[in-house]
Amino acid sequence: MIVPHHTLTVFLSRHQIATAVARLAAAIRRDYGDASPLLVGTLKGAFVFLADLARALDGKVQVDFVQISSYGSDTASSGQVTLLRDLPTEIGGRDVLVVEDIIDSGQSAAFLLRHLAARHPASLRLCTLVDKPAHRHEPVVIDYKGFTIDDVFIVGYGMDWNEHYRHLPDICRLHLEQPQKGEG
Ligand code: IMP
Ligand code: MG
Repeated sequence: MIVPHHTLTVFLSRHQIATAVARLAAAIRRDYGDASPLLVGTLKGAFVFLADLARALDGKVQVDFVQISSYGSDTASSGQVTLLRDLPTEIGGRDVLVVEDIIDSGQSAAFLLRHLAARHPASLRLCTLVDKPAHRHEPVVIDYKGFTIDDVFIVGYGMDWNEHYRHLPDICRLHLEQPQKGEG
């Protein structure tokens, strides 16, 4: 596939991210006390955030993952949510904390929360590193939030653009450049 011309600029630095992760971990631990919540990360985007959050939580946690996919264009999700990997763990009576990289339309998170609520956890909360409310059309209650951002497309720290850039330690903004006349 031909990758369109684009540039990246640092949008949230690794230092800003680390500060937010520490703040979220402290708030979560304050609320859960000695309980051992089950962190449910959404693959693939949340894998880096979940790894940092779990280690910052300073106490017992368990970790699992689901994979949900919303097919659409490369920088907008479609609303067609599919569960590619379900949670194999029994969650009845557990304290479940969903860990998301970014919430955009809200459809993935709303779908997942409905899906998990049907399995009767003792509690069910939502943590996201990034909240992008500009195109929200499924309301979701976010219990823990790192950043609220405008309608920009970001990559890095787990998040991708067509599978590129998940490895970047900073969160960067993607700028797509219009092809020049006579090009391409
Ligand atoms: P939602 O269902 O519209 O809330 O979509 C959430 C999913 O869309 C995220 O888990 C990401 O996979 C993807 N997404 C939305 N905005 C961005 C972005 O700015 N960068 C990378 N992925 C994004
Ligand atoms: Mg996600």
